[in-house]
Amino acid sequence: MNRAPQQGRTSSRRSMTGVTLVAVLSFAGLTAVSGPTSADQPAAGEMTFSNPSGAHRTLSTGGTIDTENPFFQELGTNGRTCFTCHRPEQAWTITPTELRDRFEQTGGLDPIFRTNDGSNCEGADISHVEQRRRAFSLLLTKGLIRIGLDVPAGAEFEIFDVDDPYRCGALLSSPSMYRRPLPTTNLAFLSTVMWDGRDTAPGQAIRADLMTQARNATTGHAEGAPPSAAELRAIVDFELGLVTAQTHDSSAGSLSVRGARGGPRMLARQPFCIGINDPLGMLPSVPGACATSGGFDPRVFTLFEAWASDRSAEREAIARGEAIFNTRQFVIDSVPGLNGAPWDPVSGPIQNGTCTICHDTPNAGNHSVSMALNIGIADPLRRTPDLPLYTLRHRTTSEVVQTTDPGRAMVTGRWNDIAKFKGPVLRALAARAPFFHDGSAATLADVIAFYETRFQIGFTDREKADLLAFLHSL
Ligand code: HEC
Ligand code: HEC
Repeated sequence: MNRAPQQGRTSSRRSMTGVTLVAVLSFAGLTAVSGPTSADQPAAGEMTFSNPSGAHRTLSTGGTIDTENPFFQELGTNGRTCFTCHRPEQAWTITPTELRDRFEQTGGLDPIFRTNDGSNCEGADISHVEQRRRAFSLLLTKGLIRIGLDVPAGAEFEIFDVDDPYRCGALLSSPSMYRRPLPTTNLAFLSTVMWDGRDTAPGQAIRADLMTQARNATTGHAEGAPPSAAELRAIVDFELGLVTAQTHDSSAGSLSVRGARGGPRMLARQPFCIGINDPLGMLPSVPGACATSGGFDPRVFTLFEAWASDRSAEREAIARGEAIFNTRQFVIDSVPGLNGAPWDPVSGPIQNGTCTICHDTPNAGNHSVSMALNIGIADPLRRTPDLPLYTLRHRTTSEVVQTTDPGRAMVTGRWNDIAKFKGPVLRALAARAPFFHDGSAATLADVIAFYETRFQIGFTDREKADLLAFLHSL
């Protein structure tokens, strides 16, 4: 791993607080990839970092990535900044590997290790380093932050039991969910803010949702007073300008040569409106929505088509993987929110389903409409001993259901929303394992294995390998 000096101007600014200094020191860990081609050279203001399968890069549509933005400044009372949990090295989230380093370097005293939401239980005893190691085990093993939410007033359900491995003693009216920080990059493609959409208000622009989000993050994660409107605007402008993607693959090389369109520069030019390429043509009425439904093209990713026949076997595998993601058909059935119940928009199985039925935003891969789905991640059968298991009971029918995370139902109070989550952006995946809201897929191969079982796809070994090569190149 070669060390290279900081690209761009971001480290030359003065008057840094201690916190931004940490940020800059950390950026100085950016790496150059050996033998980049000229098309692959990072430009001023771009940041490139190595990751387990190559390198990813962030650019800002505003020009430079301003490390003096309030995003990097301490806004609360517990030493945290947004950068504490959203780091460019990890594609603007956090990973267990880096967190374990941070733990060892600080003896578990870095501001991320706070007991308001970093520890498995709120207010955990952390007087000694060994207690800290135990208290923060979900953060250290899976990069999970505790999200404590109250059961909404008037909810159709009550939580009447929890099997809690940590015996936190929390009230059943205020359960803890353990979730991966979503990346604070590629936000210009969002149709929904947060895994459960709790910061997305109906009919409100995403920009306004992100203002709510930044305010709540400051009062919640950072335990501070609400930032000023100007600070919130600055944070949201900053985030909305970030674009991140894989630029280099350790076996295929640069992802933007020989006609390929990988990397953040192409992504920054990718048009988007909410509802684009939606298979159901839903056209939501929200600022930023498409004016007309342009129909659905399953070819959602068009980055590597030029590599379909290439002299490099690795490049060809990525192109085949892209085609599999776009067009390999399987039956999509019993997905609450899509076709799992009589009131869902689709009745019955989708025979010619593809990954892109849900991951429909062109070259970004998130769901282009705000539509929470239950694909089974929080299913009791997938529960691992490190997660709590909640038992929910319908207040009128007395029906009972178990889940590791009630998901969207904790926002709407609706029984039908239990365990539903949004379909996230699928870029720079290689930099930010583990995957899914609960970090239950340690690798992208585990993600593929999940879908293989869930939808009985019947992938061949070669299809799996090609799909994996593609996902690593996003
Ligand atoms: C302690 C860790 C932590 C800190 C500090 C933190 N976040 Fe987050 N962030 C998270 C987690 C966890 C989620 C996902 C929560 C969920 O969806 O339930 C998240 C989600 C987000 C999202 C949603 C992205 C999407 O795709 O929907 C944005 C935007 C965001 N954070 C911005 C910020 C900003 C701005 C700050 C600083 C004011 C901040 N975060 C501070 C942990 C953190
Ligand atoms: C029925 C809709 C649907 C289909 C079909 C689907 N996905 Fe997903 N995908 C989702 C949802 C929803 C999530 C988030 C689930 C969660 O974390 O609870 C997700 C998450 C992911 C993630 C994790 C992203 C992250 O940041 O953690 C990857 C990778 C992914 N899907 C790839 C695929 C691939 C590959 C296929 C085809 C084999 C596929 N998906 C098919 C809806 C779908």
